[in-house]
Amino acid sequence: MRISPISSNLLVLVAVALLSSLLCLDGAPVGSKTYIIHMEKNATHLDVDAKHAWYTELMDGAKAFLAADHPDDGMDSLHHVYHHVFDGFSARLTAEQVAYMKSLPCVMALYQDRVHKPQTTHSSEFVGLSGENAHLWPESNYGADSIIGVIDTGIWPERLSFNDHGLGPIPKRWKGSCTAGTNFTAANCNKKIIGAKYFYKGYEAEYGKIVDGVDQKGNENILSARDSDGHGTHCASTAAGRWARRASYKGLARGTAVGMAPKARIAVYKALWEPEGGMTTDLVAAFDRAVADGVDVISYSIGSKVGPDGIPDFFEGAEAEVVAAFNAVKKGVFVSVAGGNEGPTPGSIANNAPWYTTVAATTQDREEQQNVLLGNGEILVGRFGSAPKAGLQHVTNAPLIYAGHAAINGISAENASFCQVEALDASLLAGKIVVCNVDERSPRFSGAPGAAGIIFVLSPYWGEGLQISESAIPFTQLGSDARLPILAYIASTSKPTATILPTKTVYGTTPAPKVAAFSSRGPIRYARGQWLKPDLAAPGVDILAAGIKNNQYAFKSGTSMACPHVSGFGALLHSRHPKWSPAAIRSALMTTATTLDNTNNTITAQETSSAASPWDFGAGFAQPEKAMNPGLVYDMGTGDYLHFLCGLGYNSTQIKLFDRDGYACPSNPPARIEDANLPSFVAHFGDAAALSLVDTSVSFSRTLSNVGSAGGTYKATVDVQPKGFHISVEPSTLKFSRAGSKQSYVLTVTPRGAATLPEVALGSFFQGSGSVSWSDGEHVVRSPVVVMVGDVSGL
Ligand SMILES: *[C@@H]1O[C@H](CO)[C@@H](O)[C@H](O)[C@H]1NC(C)=O
Ligand SMILES: *[C@@H]1O[C@H](CO)[C@@H](O)[C@H](O)[C@H]1NC(C)=O
Ligand SMILES: *[C@@H]1O[C@H](CO)[C@@H](O)[C@H](O)[C@H]1NC(C)=O
Ligand SMILES: *[C@@H]1O[C@H](CO)[C@@H](O)[C@H](O)[C@H]1NC(C)=O
Ligand SMILES: *[C@@H]1O[C@H](CO)[C@@H](O)[C@H](O)[C@H]1NC(C)=O
Repeated sequence: MRISPISSNLLVLVAVALLSSLLCLDGAPVGSKTYIIHMEKNATHLDVDAKHAWYTELMDGAKAFLAADHPDDGMDSLHHVYHHVFDGFSARLTAEQVAYMKSLPCVMALYQDRVHKPQTTHSSEFVGLSGENAHLWPESNYGADSIIGVIDTGIWPERLSFNDHGLGPIPKRWKGSCTAGTNFTAANCNKKIIGAKYFYKGYEAEYGKIVDGVDQKGNENILSARDSDGHGTHCASTAAGRWARRASYKGLARGTAVGMAPKARIAVYKALWEPEGGMTTDLVAAFDRAVADGVDVISYSIGSKVGPDGIPDFFEGAEAEVVAAFNAVKKGVFVSVAGGNEGPTPGSIANNAPWYTTVAATTQDREEQQNVLLGNGEILVGRFGSAPKAGLQHVTNAPLIYAGHAAINGISAENASFCQVEALDASLLAGKIVVCNVDERSPRFSGAPGAAGIIFVLSPYWGEGLQISESAIPFTQLGSDARLPILAYIASTSKPTATILPTKTVYGTTPAPKVAAFSSRGPIRYARGQWLKPDLAAPGVDILAAGIKNNQYAFKSGTSMACPHVSGFGALLHSRHPKWSPAAIRSALMTTATTLDNTNNTITAQETSSAASPWDFGAGFAQPEKAMNPGLVYDMGTGDYLHFLCGLGYNSTQIKLFDRDGYACPSNPPARIEDANLPSFVAHFGDAAALSLVDTSVSFSRTLSNVGSAGGTYKATVDVQPKGFHISVEPSTLKFSRAGSKQSYVLTVTPRGAATLPEVALGSFFQGSGSVSWSDGEHVVRSPVVVMVGDVSGL
């Protein structure tokens, strides 16, 4: 995902960008490549300077291994030295040098550098923070003691969202600083933006020197923490923007824009560059710095492509940034990450490590509607597309044409329908409103020359998956419900016409939230064993937040935009409950999340308009106000995560990468991922045949910690039994003698028999879900329980 589009531009505009970034990975040139060299434990006795000297010596040693036909490219320096999230450094190495490094006993692992992409106000109200009965904001002092590290494209510091009027002094424990660079001075930091750093050596090693300004291809970079893209500024203001009155985008969505934790401090770590995104080496340097500086939360709206060409099977080996994040969590940092924009394909979820809080994206109850009036008087409800440069489009009573009917010779109607400049006969489009087709195979939209207006119509694959895009070309969009009516109207008359009506902001739309069509879905395809991802959902469609340059505000959509909502919630909860671990914060958010929308029905998915599942929204839509007082939490510490890795089958060498002191996996009984103390349950029955065995069941042990102010008695209820399965809980009553006490229980999922599941009888993949709640009458501690039968790789 290019950071590219974890702010998800219009669906059509995204697909190609993703592919091209992958090609870059595959087509890496012969010669040296950048690696992270992860060092053995003994290096910890050295200070940073001594490590630097030692690593330089190692690199000098490695020079002897340059093959004669390899020039000494990029061998001059270490790019980064890592000190906090693990020990090591990054540098360019040839294959021969990699072999040499691997042979050194002091080197534990090498990770080849990879590129990562970014995933893009009313939402504070919609999530219940600014309502009449809201307490979390005042009780957490709006997150004033919390520091959110935003690893992204930088920041535009002059925005109102980042002013520091009336903010108290910077927390004393803060060790970070403000690094000056192009058009960014120390004076751009204040009591709101308390740190700013940028990391680019890995990017330059891969893609060549970054041009400070606009390069020949039109890509713009600024060599400092200043944001030339807009993604980082948007995310930072969503997480922690201050109140900015009269925010709007060209008059749309007018209101007060405010982030989730309006008084939390922002520390900027820029590691994403145009046009490719960010390299692992730079991202790990950002994690390393953020942890050393003392952030409480890391907001990471960045993804890598999932699948055989991208993230390896979680089992095969962890990525360096996953290890870095592990060590951040170990030090008490809450790490909120975007789940990816590869939906609605099942098995597309990214950023799956169990120490992450992985966020899915939903709509909210505000729509920027731009409707289409057909010549026959019918009105189709549409969505404002985008017009950042050309102004909003209204077109009155113009002829209407389907792009498929304007194909040039030799091009199929279907290919022309996707609106490719070279496929369309411009003389047929002049002065008309052109209807362009969007389906799962659409190539990148490249324009409809001469058209007076453009209407995109989504195929059933995307359903009602509408979102405002950053495209420079103005357009209007219709969901798939409007597809037949508009095509039928065009077919019904020799002179079809239409009017594209002005855009209006509509509040209180139902149903909301809906899971965004682009939001990546579980189950985890590349893993041995299963656990639930995403963890939860937050608003990520048409989010209005701070923009860069002349745009005070910008609309963006993506799990990138959902992630900073949860980062903000994490900051509020950290301020309110400073002793809570990252896992406790996640548990509180998950067990109090709702699976219902504003019509009291199960939250639906945009693409199908039918009920979504935990693979779409995790535990549900986050309700931070309720998370403040969850009653009980499923806590996890470093040992639990290491135990989890044992359960996945990691051996001692692999575990040492995470914890250099090593961890002895238990053998009797061996660790099981089912017993990881997560606030969710996935019962995976490998194949349908097993279901007919009478004694087949999957059990999970869990421990609940009482975070209430006193003791209490909680009773378990199975809210919903998954179709064909039976959930039981033992014991079903837990007595907590006092605040802080812990109790354990076992949950068991038993099949009622294969015959109850027709899909299973046919041998195909089946999934279903239910839920379990613990309640003392005041609190409800709810967990999703998912069952799966069959092979995930066959999804
Ligand atoms: C660490 O170990 C390596 C190899 O085992 C050795 O070469 C190096 O001198 C050691 N460094 C320290 C500081 O002990
Ligand atoms: C720095 O700011 C100046 C003045 O606004 C601008 O002209 C210049 O292009 C900026 N430099 C970069 C690299 O963006
Ligand atoms: C349609 O597009 C596909 C994919 O670009 C291409 O392979 C095919 O040849 C095209 N067919 C026609 C008739 O334009
Ligand atoms: C949804 O249910 C809650 C609780 O039962 C109720 O207070 C609320 O009015 C209902 N809302 C709608 C839109 O039906
Ligand atoms: C651990 O697993 C890795 C990857 O499969 C393998 O390369 C390594 O040799 C194993 N180490 C041990 C101690 O078994």
